[in-house]
Amino acid sequence: MTNLLTYQVYENVAVVTIDSPPVNALGIDVRQSIVEGFKRASADVNVQAIVLACDGRTFFAGADIREFGSKPKSPILPEVIAFIESSPKLTIAALHGTPLGGGLETALACHYRIALAGTRMGLPEVNLGLLPGAGGTQKLPRLVGIPAALEIITSGRQIKADEALKLGIIDRVCESDNIVASAISYAKELVDQNATRTLVLDRNEKTAEHRGKSEVYDAFRAKNARRFRGFKSVENIIKAIQLAADLPYEQGLKRERELFTELQQSRDSSAQQHVFFAERESSKVPDIPRTTPVRPIDAVGIIGAGTMGGGIAMNFLNAGIPVTLIEQKQEALDHGISIIRKNYQRSVKAGRMTEEALEARITLITPSLDYADLASVDLIIEAVFETMEIKKEVFSSIDAVAKPGCILASNTSYLDLDEIAGATSRPQDVIGLHFFSPANVMNLLEVVRGEHSAPEVINTGMRLAKIIGKTPVLSKVGWGFIANRVMKVRGYQTDNLILQGINPEIIDKVIYDYGFAMGPIAMKDLVGLDVLGRDSNERTVESVLVDMGRLGQKKNGGYYDYDQNRQKTLSPLALEVIREVAKEKGIEPVLADEAEILARLLYPIINEGAKVLDEGIAMRSSDIDIACIKGYNWPVYKGGPMFWANSIGLDRVLKKLEEFEQRFGSAFTPSPYLVRLVEEGKEF
Ligand code: 3HC
Ligand code: NAI
Repeated sequence: MTNLLTYQVYENVAVVTIDSPPVNALGIDVRQSIVEGFKRASADVNVQAIVLACDGRTFFAGADIREFGSKPKSPILPEVIAFIESSPKLTIAALHGTPLGGGLETALACHYRIALAGTRMGLPEVNLGLLPGAGGTQKLPRLVGIPAALEIITSGRQIKADEALKLGIIDRVCESDNIVASAISYAKELVDQNATRTLVLDRNEKTAEHRGKSEVYDAFRAKNARRFRGFKSVENIIKAIQLAADLPYEQGLKRERELFTELQQSRDSSAQQHVFFAERESSKVPDIPRTTPVRPIDAVGIIGAGTMGGGIAMNFLNAGIPVTLIEQKQEALDHGISIIRKNYQRSVKAGRMTEEALEARITLITPSLDYADLASVDLIIEAVFETMEIKKEVFSSIDAVAKPGCILASNTSYLDLDEIAGATSRPQDVIGLHFFSPANVMNLLEVVRGEHSAPEVINTGMRLAKIIGKTPVLSKVGWGFIANRVMKVRGYQTDNLILQGINPEIIDKVIYDYGFAMGPIAMKDLVGLDVLGRDSNERTVESVLVDMGRLGQKKNGGYYDYDQNRQKTLSPLALEVIREVAKEKGIEPVLADEAEILARLLYPIINEGAKVLDEGIAMRSSDIDIACIKGYNWPVYKGGPMFWANSIGLDRVLKKLEEFEQRFGSAFTPSPYLVRLVEEGKEF
């Protein structure tokens, strides 16, 4: 017997329990242990039913993702599942925690499923660029029907036990906190009743009504086209679910495996697996052990109820943490709160929130014009104008009122955090908490480590991110920190390409086709041309457009003209302005195909990422990937700029940068770190 398996018999019920921390992922040892347990139970003449359970925090949370790169060892998961299904005894899966992916597929091999209240189950393989490859696409539709299966598997969402019961995925929710004891009683009950032993794979009544109806899948594709764009896994999932209705189980299962293997070997899936681990890695700080104390954050103060302050406040309100919101004038305060209310009202309208929940959140806000009201909070986040003098004034004022141990944070985008901290008597308590706009939506939180930030202050910032549903990335102090700094270079190159006569529509198309939701020029129009050039006196295409009253989507159009339905067409006026400004600056037109446009826009980001690593601003290249994915919606199936660079080959990236440096100058000068990596044959 392997040491992962505990085998116990209670009268006529055998309990096969697996314990493989942290999440009972279905690696080779776990798979062998399940088979071993089932073999023993099957051979035991006194046993009439087998309960499959896990120790620790969860029932199997899926296949072991770390095994995906290597040759699979027998018994592979489909073999284990077939073995469970061939059991001569009644089988019951006892679920708790997060039975996900292969874990849920294993549970679906049993005749019955019972779950602890609070269990969250699902088939999240889509998030790894995969599909459920151990029968999930063939079995879930047999339990919940085609439309629900399409929604559940393409979204990868977690389903709570009560909903799973209603949908028919499980047979019982156990209210006691002892899932194994409840599963044993349930097993006895089923044996006593001589309950049927129908396997999920033999149920066809729910899929029958959609047999041969390809229009159902086409309608689903069309309805979700925007959301699914670029995700190859979604297309294979839809195909596999259709097979569940159209083919006998065994044939559907065989095709599911082929569709799974195709995805498993794809670059997109490798990228998404990289992101899965990168996301978990980003919260770890090598020189700050996990045992470092964390300061409790039970009340927060936010200064500035503008664009960012309001959005930041919503994160805390959503987590049930009270917020004291400070402004300079009553009107600004009222306006800020009205925007927060409006945002929540949108959720109420969409059915994602109740009126009561909205009111409960608003009640958590204490509006104030007086810094003295911050005396009892545990964390203060400053989100006032991006001006050093104002920030210093604010920090010196909060230093005077904040209690000892209160964490003082700035949301500055570009300013020197150490200089800001210098305005206080306690730089050890100062950090950056840099949110991304809209702050209630974007998942990135850059935690900025000042020269004097105390380890427990940094640790608190990193842990806090999780409480408010963000992914933290640690950055040292430096202009623009990580995400803004590396992404800014795309902005410069966009402007250069425009002035060199490259059609703005083609630039947008190249970026959209790569997988971003929007091209950089359409994005300028959306943000507002007046906002972009605010701090500069230089005559640029944008400043001329603003002088002409063209502010972007919000007023008169910008680079594009917009009709009533916000459909855009390139503006002849804007093209005229581009030509004029290019002439004034003496910029000659160039020719570039789409591949070259893409390289000119995105390779400098890789290069800037290399500089950020070399300077120690970011701890690891995967943190830069996470910052770009979570802060700028870099397409997740490309893995972020640094992973993407590795997959192109750093030597090829370097060669292209050198060529661009020759042609266009120092903006493309390769980072010495990148050069070194190529010389040493290494990757990021
Ligand atoms: N394989 C390998 N390692 C895994 C894993 C998996 N399926 N799931 C989690 N882990 C590891 C994490 O990397 C982490 O390791 P670390 O401590 O070294 O960083 C550790 O387990 C704990 O994970 P989290 O920090 O994420 O813990 P949480 O409690 O926040 O979340 C969880 C737990 C909900 C299970 C979450 O880890 C998760 O969503 N895991 C992935 C689940 C999944 O995608 N399953 C499907 C796998 S693909 C599959 O099954 C294919 C099949 O259809 C054939
Ligand atoms: P904003 O102009 O929308 O809001 C700033 C608010 O601060 C205003 O309501 C103003 O009345 C208030 N304010 C100014 N001085 C104050 C004081 N002394 N006391 C109290 N309130 C004061 O600006 P926004 O966009 O919210 O930016 C705030 C900060 O967040 C800046 O540092 C900015 O760089 C940073 N940031 C902005 C992002 C964005 O996309 N807008 C993204 C990430 C960070």
